[in-house]
Amino acid sequence: MNRIKVKDLLTSTAFETTVLVKGWVRTKRGNKNVSFIALNDGSIIHNIQVVVDLSIISEDSIKNVTTGACIAVVGKIVSSQGKGQSVEIIAQSIELYGGSDPETYPLQKKGHSLEFLREIAHLRPRTNTFGAVLRIRHAMAFAVHKFFNDKGFCYIHTPIITGSDAEGAGAMFQVTSLDLNQLPKDSQGAIDYKQDFFGKPTNLTVSGQLEGELAAMALSEIYTFGPTFRAENSNTTRHLAEFWMIEPEVAFNELVDNMNLAEEFLKYLINYALQHCPDDLAFLNEMYDKELLERLKLVTNNDFQRVTYTEGVEILKNSGHKFEYKVEWGTDLQSEHERYLVEKHFKKPVILVDYPKDIKAFYMKMNEDGKTVRAMDVLFPGIGEIIGGSQREDDYDKLLTRIKQMNIHEEQLWWYLETRKFGSCPHAGFGLGFERLILFITGMANIRDVIPFPRTPMNAEF
Ligand code: 4AD
Ligand code: MG
Repeated sequence: MNRIKVKDLLTSTAFETTVLVKGWVRTKRGNKNVSFIALNDGSIIHNIQVVVDLSIISEDSIKNVTTGACIAVVGKIVSSQGKGQSVEIIAQSIELYGGSDPETYPLQKKGHSLEFLREIAHLRPRTNTFGAVLRIRHAMAFAVHKFFNDKGFCYIHTPIITGSDAEGAGAMFQVTSLDLNQLPKDSQGAIDYKQDFFGKPTNLTVSGQLEGELAAMALSEIYTFGPTFRAENSNTTRHLAEFWMIEPEVAFNELVDNMNLAEEFLKYLINYALQHCPDDLAFLNEMYDKELLERLKLVTNNDFQRVTYTEGVEILKNSGHKFEYKVEWGTDLQSEHERYLVEKHFKKPVILVDYPKDIKAFYMKMNEDGKTVRAMDVLFPGIGEIIGGSQREDDYDKLLTRIKQMNIHEEQLWWYLETRKFGSCPHAGFGLGFERLILFITGMANIRDVIPFPRTPMNAEF
């Protein structure tokens, strides 16, 4: 007999048919005559109720069917008499795959704190909360590919190990096969990277953008979707050391086209979640954040506010609000500033553009004023920056000047510079932090709770 998933079972009307269902026991309750087992297989947030007539299946034979155990049930589909479900199954036989000692199983009770669940990341996918988050995360990954595929973008796989630093921020994880206890030295006494695996120092990538640009200048419209790594020691609820980023890059796009694409993309993803994940979103709305669904609709139903950095700074300075960090033209905005603009001032998502050149990366296109660059950050309620992007500098001489001014190793970027020598063109792109998107869509408060196995400072257990 083929296994039927709980999701399909719950909407089945094939009453009296015998089926095989497999999953993990959430609860078992009952009396001397009958046992009720709530079974979940992760296909949907809801459980199927298995009714066990103890005069047919002995109580002793199911004594090890306890919370957390894995079982296979053959039974008959019936319409449910109980409240809260329309379908249940009457068990004919139950096979125990793996027991789960009630004395030691950590998820014995409901209502564990998210902090506790982080310590048992190997088991937390079995909770309703993480089941919901992981299904939504999957749906969003699929929607990302669908959005770009439907628009004719080409998915490009950019390298994870690189010899360059795309953001110039310097917080990278080094990759080496050298023996750290016996490092080879050159004649000057420095580490001899010629003997390293690649014959030079290499790192885990912080962004696929630079390689993405190379592909955009041949295929016109591309995107990347892969893991990126940052060794900053920021222990916040919005930073991970390993996170996934989606980076579209489009030849012939200017900043305004870039903004339009970002807004359309985010609205598409949120609408996709509203359409395809209603049960999981309803659960999260109920359990964690009663305004979640409203906030999602607020984003899809409103145009994003587009303002310059300079205007944003003026608004913050004139707000009369006391910020922890002072706002001055030329300094990077903190998330408290970004959130003030979004949540208090405009009350909708904001796209901030034209940032001072000194707080942004070398590759951004210079504006005529010589002080600002064609950067854009998309700011979201509860999150702050969800997207960072820009139009790229396409003029060879200007780009080289910026590289020199910012003390970036020109020799590492010769290949990037060549695209400005041969057939250069205006182009633009952005990066969406996948986990920040999932934070927003699920309403979870901590980025550690929207990725199965978070990598943060001092934490790489699983
Ligand atoms: O603003 P960032 O650093 O931009 C780039 O990396 C560009 N190369 C993107 C591009 O133009 N192609 O990062 C982009 C986004 C941020 O807006 C944020 O959502 C996310 O990546 N992000 C992080 N998410 C989790 N943990 C971190 N440590 C993150 N750093 C950035
Ligand atoms: Mg940024």
